[in-house]
Amino acid sequence: MGAYRRTKLVLVAHRLGVFDALAAKSADANAVADRVHAHPATLAPVLDALSGMGVLEKSGALYTNGAIAAEHLVKGRPMYLGHVLEMHDRLWEGWSNLEHVVRSGQPWRTLPALLEAEPDFADRYIRGMHNFSGPAAREVARLVGPGSVKRMLDVGGGPGTYAFAILEQNPEARATVLDLDVTLRITREFANAHPLKDRLELRVGNYLEDEYGDGFDLALMSHTTHDEPEVRVRDMLARAYQALDRGGRVAIHDWVLDDSGATPLDPALFGVHVMLYTDGGRVHRRADYERWLGEAGFVRLEHHLVLPERVASATTLLLGTKP
Ligand SMILES: C[S@@+](CC[C@H](N)C(=O)[O-])C[C@H]1O[C@@H](n2cnc3c(N)ncnc32)[C@H](O)[C@@H]1O
Repeated sequence: MGAYRRTKLVLVAHRLGVFDALAAKSADANAVADRVHAHPATLAPVLDALSGMGVLEKSGALYTNGAIAAEHLVKGRPMYLGHVLEMHDRLWEGWSNLEHVVRSGQPWRTLPALLEAEPDFADRYIRGMHNFSGPAAREVARLVGPGSVKRMLDVGGGPGTYAFAILEQNPEARATVLDLDVTLRITREFANAHPLKDRLELRVGNYLEDEYGDGFDLALMSHTTHDEPEVRVRDMLARAYQALDRGGRVAIHDWVLDDSGATPLDPALFGVHVMLYTDGGRVHRRADYERWLGEAGFVRLEHHLVLPERVASATTLLLGTKP
């Protein structure tokens, strides 16, 4: 029952800037409080609890960042994950409204509205996704097959992490990332700094309303179908089918539930999470995806676990071919 306390401690310490304050050297509670503009008497128990958790280390009166905090929670470090924390920090309010969401059947907010209304959140959301997607994107690219793609569409491609990973493995390929304007404004910053930027096109569009174009041999939907209910996923699959050449493949990459609908645990928890900020979004079952793919006309269905060593949070890649 108390797990929320640990999450909140890390979120607040990150908000205060505790990990940045300890980036260069150890400090006692008074010095940290001074640097982060907090009261030393109320900051000290927070630092102690974080030390007990192993996020910080305490020696005498001095605190230091633990290994994970030093690598992932200090701004500017190559493996910085603070944007992911900021995203969770914002969605905490959604979880506080869970009872209302469950009673009313309505989301707390919808993602496009949230992204549009809060540019800061959009920035964290997109950067946060980019921060943690690297290993999964490389694995998806490997499973799709090096050298197998010439022209891909990344539906709701966000920061373009997956498109770039596939471009890296397919030297002749070109990619189009289809996403909302508010998202692509941030993606453009990533893309412009990427060595493969000339092979990536950003196309502003709504994946529920706009045509996807044509002539593609791969249509990727990574972490987008959980934001949508069945009826819209099926519509997206129909649009992807139209956009693909014969022999082209659709690839769905997401957290996927087994037949029970209740396991693995992480996708089941995420199923509640998406309900808070989507209009009918759900984590879907593998059997449902396979049925929808078949009904959309796709054949030779495959499924692969992505990074299965992550156990509870492993994702699934489903592939289908347009005959
Ligand atoms: C969870 S993110 C996934 C991003 C990326 N595919 C990945 O796996 O890292 C969902 C993406 O879908 C985009 N999106 C949401 N609704 C959309 C819509 N109606 N049309 C186009 N893009 C949309 C969001 O802007 C966001 O970039």
